[in-house]
Amino acid sequence: MGSTRPTSGQQRVSARRAVADDLETLESGEPRPELELARKRFDEQEQGTGIFAVVEVEGVIVGSGFLDFVDEELTPELKNLWVHEKARRQGAGRLLWRWLEARAQEAGYSQVYLAVDPNNEKAIPLFLNLGYSPTGHHLFMEDPDEHQVTDPSQVSSHYAIFRKSLLAG
Ligand SMILES: CC(C)(COP(=O)(O)OP(=O)(O)OC[C@H]1O[C@@H](n2cnc3c(N)ncnc32)[C@H](O)[C@@H]1OP(=O)(O)O)[C@@H](O)C(=O)NCCC(=O)NCCS
Repeated sequence: MGSTRPTSGQQRVSARRAVADDLETLESGEPRPELELARKRFDEQEQGTGIFAVVEVEGVIVGSGFLDFVDEELTPELKNLWVHEKARRQGAGRLLWRWLEARAQEAGYSQVYLAVDPNNEKAIPLFLNLGYSPTGHHLFMEDPDEHQVTDPSQVSSHYAIFRKSLLAG
């Protein structure tokens, strides 16, 4: 199952589940290879505890994200959203997130959660744009991701929790 749409520049952007053949590409583009997140998320998908999705522009993988059905704190949680720098601002992040939200809806959830560095000036406009609202709660992150912020000195150890209702209307 996938979804495709043209961007404003008429490039085709699409999202789908990651498959084993994607792993080499995903691993070579990981922002934090030491975490081996692509392999972990793929294994979790194989175990049925989440959905690992890729987003493509013109058939080339430019990013990935994960829908976690068993996160300890937030269920379900959308996490690990990443779009390669050269492919940003073409609608890939938005399409990937909407695709994963639709999978959460299909799985019977009426809401989704995410946690984001409050200084993430790229992702927060995206999430607001997609209809997320801050819950006012925070998660303590032992190992916050400095790729989320422009200046490493802005990294926060307390991520803001956002929620979105998946109910129609
Ligand atoms: C956040 C991220 C995934 C956005 O991906 P993207 O493919 O560039 O996003 P899109 O093109 O779909 O943008 C959709 C909307 O998000 C907002 N947005 C995206 N990048 C933005 C930026 N640099 N500044 C302000 N708003 C931005 C805008 O509202 C944009 O809509 P518009 O282009 O019509 O104005 C990408 O910047 C990224 O990978 N960042 C590093 C990792 C990260 O922070 N992940 C989120 C962790 S919670």
